[in-house]
Amino acid sequence: MSNRLEEDSKAVIAILTTHDSSRMFRGNRQNFQEIIKAGKDMGYLVYVVTVRDLKLHSQMVKGYTPSSDHHSWEQRTFPLPQVIYNRIPNREDEMKPQVRKKIKECLNHPNLDLYNPYFFNKRQLFSWLSKSKLTRKWAPITKKLKGMASLYEMIKRCSYLYLKPEDGKAGQGIMRLRYQKNKPLAYRLQIQNDKNSTTYKAATLERLWDRISKETNGDPYIIQQGIELTSVHGRAFDLRLLIQKTNHGAWSVTGIGARMAGSHSITTHVPRGGTIEDPEKLLPTLFGTEQAEAILSKVRNAAVLIAKQIERGAKYPLGEMSMDLGLDTSGELWFFEANSKPMKFDEPAIRKRSLERIFHYCEHLIENK
Ligand SMILES: Nc1ncnc2c1ncn2[C@@H]1O[C@H](COP(=O)(O)OP(=O)(O)O)[C@@H](O)[C@H]1O
Ligand SMILES: [Mg+2]
Repeated sequence: MSNRLEEDSKAVIAILTTHDSSRMFRGNRQNFQEIIKAGKDMGYLVYVVTVRDLKLHSQMVKGYTPSSDHHSWEQRTFPLPQVIYNRIPNREDEMKPQVRKKIKECLNHPNLDLYNPYFFNKRQLFSWLSKSKLTRKWAPITKKLKGMASLYEMIKRCSYLYLKPEDGKAGQGIMRLRYQKNKPLAYRLQIQNDKNSTTYKAATLERLWDRISKETNGDPYIIQQGIELTSVHGRAFDLRLLIQKTNHGAWSVTGIGARMAGSHSITTHVPRGGTIEDPEKLLPTLFGTEQAEAILSKVRNAAVLIAKQIERGAKYPLGEMSMDLGLDTSGELWFFEANSKPMKFDEPAIRKRSLERIFHYCEHLIENK
């Protein structure tokens, strides 16, 4: 049966991840399972392969698919893939020399395509956006946090700031700072914990810096102009977009969701008390129907321009990304980050479309090889 399946499939596509000694492979199994199912329904042969098992000189490689009862995974041999959808789950794995080497080999391989080879670095994203007149306006002022002097320079320019780890995700390590000249404790630093945040007050820059350097613990950080986000009952929200390439290889917005911050959180992440909202409902209540429409169309256009600019900066093949965009109190748009390993969207319509688009783009890659 498996041979028939392979002969009938339109193309062979592999999801790339890393090996794990106790659970065969790493990454979000549910996500992988849904991708494989969607691909199969569309006529593709899809399997999970680890960096270790992806032997580029063999005809057949060891891979994994969900078992027929969907409760476990089974190992089989599969033909070498035509397209590799990279889902190496974390930066630590990506940094390993043998992983980097394999990614490079795939990128240089004449007969296969790998896309989204690397995680993005936050500082780099802002530097790429600032290089184009078209996208510069959406990027908050962003600098590398180099020491007390660099902090002071930014405080002089903006009295509201975000400090974020360059390689951060899911709100980890984020702080925000307000400087209120006339208060006795002029510096207010809010540090994000799991679900709430702690506020630290300091009278002097030296004291503030002591605390910040303790929190950052030597990790590379960016310091960024804080945006006063539109909020609903005191809860800020932002927009999460999924942008993917179509079967014509063009960037297109797959869907837009909204995430509203938990009442004690300085970010909008759901695990930190944030909630999922529908922008089509949320925006009209805040801005009125007409302006909401205008904002959403501005968001879609901006996202595509930003994706193109990121791709230009990255100089490696990209097929999808998620993006966090904010709206300030006057409805202006701001870019916070993009992610090259988008998490699955909880909105069913976006999710469904996102799975189909993975294969549309693979088809495009194969046709244009
Ligand atoms: N400069 C900023 N001004 C206002 N809010 C911000 C700023 N940067 C980040 N945020 C808020 O924090 C959230 C998390 O920031 P983000 O850069 O996406 O980090 P992470 O990688 O941890 O998700 C954003 O979605 C937004 O709600
Ligand atoms: Mg984010």
